[in-house]
Amino acid sequence: MRILITGSSGQIGTNLGLYLQERGHYVFGVDKRPNTWTRDIETLLQDLSAPYRTHKGGIGVEYPPDLDLVVHLAAHAKVHELVQQPHRALENINMTFNVLEFCRQNNLPIVFSSSREVYGDIHRYITEESYADFAFTESPYSASKISGEALIYSYAQCYGLRYLVFRFSNVYGRYDNDIERMLRVIPHFIREINAGRPITVYGEDKVLDFTYIDDCVGGVASAIEKLVGGEIANHTINLAYGQGNSLVAMAGFIGEALGKEPDMTIEPARIGEVTHYVANVGKARALLDYTPQTSLRDGIHKAVEWSLNWWENHS
Ligand SMILES: NC(=O)c1ccc[n+]([C@@H]2O[C@H](COP(=O)([O-])OP(=O)(O)OC[C@H]3O[C@@H](n4cnc5c(N)ncnc54)[C@H](O)[C@@H]3O)[C@@H](O)[C@H]2O)c1
Repeated sequence: MRILITGSSGQIGTNLGLYLQERGHYVFGVDKRPNTWTRDIETLLQDLSAPYRTHKGGIGVEYPPDLDLVVHLAAHAKVHELVQQPHRALENINMTFNVLEFCRQNNLPIVFSSSREVYGDIHRYITEESYADFAFTESPYSASKISGEALIYSYAQCYGLRYLVFRFSNVYGRYDNDIERMLRVIPHFIREINAGRPITVYGEDKVLDFTYIDDCVGGVASAIEKLVGGEIANHTINLAYGQGNSLVAMAGFIGEALGKEPDMTIEPARIGEVTHYVANVGKARALLDYTPQTSLRDGIHKAVEWSLNWWENHS
């Protein structure tokens, strides 16, 4: 297959791009910045949030011919940053619009990276896909994902777009340690605990569904095959591990893997953040034969090993 991945220099894009290439597929990446982990993904540097809509092809440049599918991952992906800089949520919406126009004009199916944030802070604890409700929008990031989903559904209605929307949740494990660009909790805790520095946990009772990268990428890759093959289309699917863990437990696993006791301070959860999410992954199981393999404890041990290895070879 010939697959265009937007956001190919990011965590999921890098892992997915390499995974697909290893299996013989052609991957063309688009990102506004170069990939800092690998040179193996051909990458066009382009800001996808600019209003290119009058240009031919929707996003304004010549892309490789005969593409089979677009995976749209490019976004400002940090909830708290978008609370502080809400204009970046609007850029997320522009990006999705531009990419959708490209798909419409080139008759391409799309895989869209949405988020568990669309459920809001569900004290109702219902995570079945059809229960997302925009009345519970918790943050500008969440609004940008709801908008992205809404645009996709409207393109399916009006232009026959074929799509799969994935709602991801705390993906971790590899190619995610560019903490200066984007502070992600697991790589951040690995670095701080390893260095013997204190960490702050925002939300003692916060329970989240952490997804090991290979489970995420495996689920997306099997969905791509099925979407391009015409087996499935037009579904919205939770992709996560399907179990909740507290941040305190997660930090404990990191300490265990490093052989160090975390020095933890607990603060209240920050504004805009979801404090409880456990995915119902029944639909992913049914449609994609998705069977997540990696528990948080095992995944953290692998993530720690990957980080230590990376530092050893790149410092
Ligand atoms: N990783 C997770 O835990 C998680 C959870 C839920 C949803 N998601 C979604 O999945 C997608 C991928 O997440 P990720 O963790 O790989 O994020 P990431 O930040 O690592 O990657 C996103 C990429 O998009 C690029 N980008 C941002 N603005 C751009 C622009 N204007 N033009 C071109 N490229 C641009 C960034 O440079 C970055 O490389 C995102 O849409 C994110 O919102 C991720």
